[in-house]
Amino acid sequence: MSKEKAILTLDGKRIEFPVVRGTEGDVAIDISKLYEEHHITTFDPSLANTAVCKSTITYIDGDKGILRYRGIPIEQFVTNSPNFVEVAYLLLSGHLPTREEGITFRNRLTENELLNETMRYQFRSVPTSAPPMAQLSASLSNLACFHRDLFVLDTDDEFMDVSAQLISKIRTVAAFIYRRSQGLPYIYPNPNLRYCANFLHMMFSLPYAHHEVSPEVEDALNLILILHADHEQNCSAATVRTVGSSRANVFASCAAGISALWGPLHGGANVEVMEMLDGIHRGGLTPEDCIQMAKDKNNAFRLFGFGHRIYKNYDPRAKILREACDRVFATMKNQNDPLLNIARKLEELALADSYFIDRKLYPNVDFYSGLLLRAMGIPTNMFTVMFAIGRLPGWIAQWKEQHDTIGGRIIRPRQVYVGNTETNYIPVEQRP
Ligand code: SDX
Repeated sequence: MSKEKAILTLDGKRIEFPVVRGTEGDVAIDISKLYEEHHITTFDPSLANTAVCKSTITYIDGDKGILRYRGIPIEQFVTNSPNFVEVAYLLLSGHLPTREEGITFRNRLTENELLNETMRYQFRSVPTSAPPMAQLSASLSNLACFHRDLFVLDTDDEFMDVSAQLISKIRTVAAFIYRRSQGLPYIYPNPNLRYCANFLHMMFSLPYAHHEVSPEVEDALNLILILHADHEQNCSAATVRTVGSSRANVFASCAAGISALWGPLHGGANVEVMEMLDGIHRGGLTPEDCIQMAKDKNNAFRLFGFGHRIYKNYDPRAKILREACDRVFATMKNQNDPLLNIARKLEELALADSYFIDRKLYPNVDFYSGLLLRAMGIPTNMFTVMFAIGRLPGWIAQWKEQHDTIGGRIIRPRQVYVGNTETNYIPVEQRP
């Protein structure tokens, strides 16, 4: 622990705090004893200035547009044949799998891809129009009912087992949600297919016709899931940590993460982006209209897919996805997706506009991801589900890091009370 000190003077008192420095130069003032010793709190409503943990999982430099998983730049995962399962293993274990570890993990995913048949009935308990994210969150909670033996994880093997359960089954759940919404029969997983091809098989095959997945599409889906796999203390990861800090099991914690991700300011933005692009395409709006509405403080509209709490530069994931759109569309029938041209136009207008420049608002991961998902035939209302499938390994890794924190305490923020001072109860007959 460094001997550096930060000093606060308040009400004539001089208070010293230890200083914490990260491996990439992050600097934090350790106030963990502040309330206990001085009955003073700090005030940071959106936690934009507050580090809630030390983590070794993901590093982001928002000014330079850097994103690394366990120290490896994300660009290096997508240059060759992108492999989401390998990245999931890296996030969960902290190291890239050896050949044998990789085979064992893949086998675990295959062994755990089927749902308990009883779970099928949960899908019938909601309308076919039920929001997929509501069903996904409920399904992850329900999975806990079939795996009570994995509530308490005492060994790494149990941790990898529950991770494989969740990472494998979330695909089957997502595909079943989609199939029921289309009135189609469920297509069961095929143990001979790799992770992404198996998912697309469950989504789009028919009992009499197997859905062939091209290498380009399989690579594109691996790439999308890799780019979504973790992002340090984002809203949903922080939710998973908070729930997990009460010693709730990993199923319940990740189900909570799904609910946090659903919001349009977070993972739900990829749906909003597509609806915005589609609105322009249908003729209701022009790109210029969107830019003006986004700048109008009296208008709740935001340029979805733009802006980020951490990135004050181009989101490196958006850059990769933008390039992937060109590459994948060139191999697919919808080479000239009008929505891609509209997205390009919006980006061009925004990046030249002082409102966006002054606020350092750049495209984020959600701006281009939907275009690729749409090209694969995945409907807009399933986009945030796809984000959740990608983010699940990151949530589990964050849950584990929180779970293993020595001396880890339940996360319970404080407040500044600004309500009534003490008042008396007034019987109803004496009220106005
Ligand atoms: C994700 O945290 C993560 O890492 C998240 C994520 C992950 O991988 O987990 O990266 C995934 O959630 C990406 C973000 C997806 N959301 C959107 O695309 C929704 C649109 N973007 C915004 O709502 C906003 O940019 C946020 C929510 C992403 C960030 O919000 P902040 O950090 O709280 O910023 P802010 O709302 O305080 O905005 C600062 C200024 C404000 O204007 P002023 O008050 O200074 O005049 O920028 C403006 C905002 O009005 N602004 C926008 C804008 N984003 C910010 N104005 C118009 N359009 C936008 N998109």
